[in-house]
Amino acid sequence: MSKNIVLIGFMGVGKGRTARTLAEKTGRFAVDCDDLIESFTNKKVKKVFAKFGESRFRELEREVALWLEKSVKNTVVSTGGGFLQVPNLSKIGTVIYLHADFDKILQSITKHPNAKKKIKKRPLLQDLDKARALLATRLPLYRAVADHEISVAGKSIEDVADEIYQLLS
Ligand code: S3P
Repeated sequence: MSKNIVLIGFMGVGKGRTARTLAEKTGRFAVDCDDLIESFTNKKVKKVFAKFGESRFRELEREVALWLEKSVKNTVVSTGGGFLQVPNLSKIGTVIYLHADFDKILQSITKHPNAKKKIKKRPLLQDLDKARALLATRLPLYRAVADHEISVAGKSIEDVADEIYQLLS
């Protein structure tokens, strides 16, 4: 396995933690697209949304995607939930969609000890009805751009990372 692995999926499915676990298993680096945007702008994602708007954030995601395609190899990439909109996604690496339904995602976020913080930092999770509708809209799009889909509900991060590892080896 030497190609990049790109994890996509809705907010709260564990893309970042899965990426780090999978990176450790496969001897890759892990990078997170939101972290790249935060270091590039020197601002938290929430602040980028508030100050420049969502459309600027999406533009930054497209810039990050171009940089990843050009410059990054042998890496596990975790993405923000809306990263599926970048036009060159499949050129970055093998795309894995981590799926859970909205109630399961909400359950797992709210039982987390840092639940409040996890919700607060995500501008698109402030209105839960809107977030539910957003997942419904995105679901067919995630599926259309993914090479593989893994269901994560009820599984540990370790199990999900193992599943991806088996799938790709
Ligand atoms: C977003 C998801 C967030 C972050 C931003 C927008 C989205 O990332 O990129 O708040 O559009 O779904 P996570 O999926 O890591 O929460």
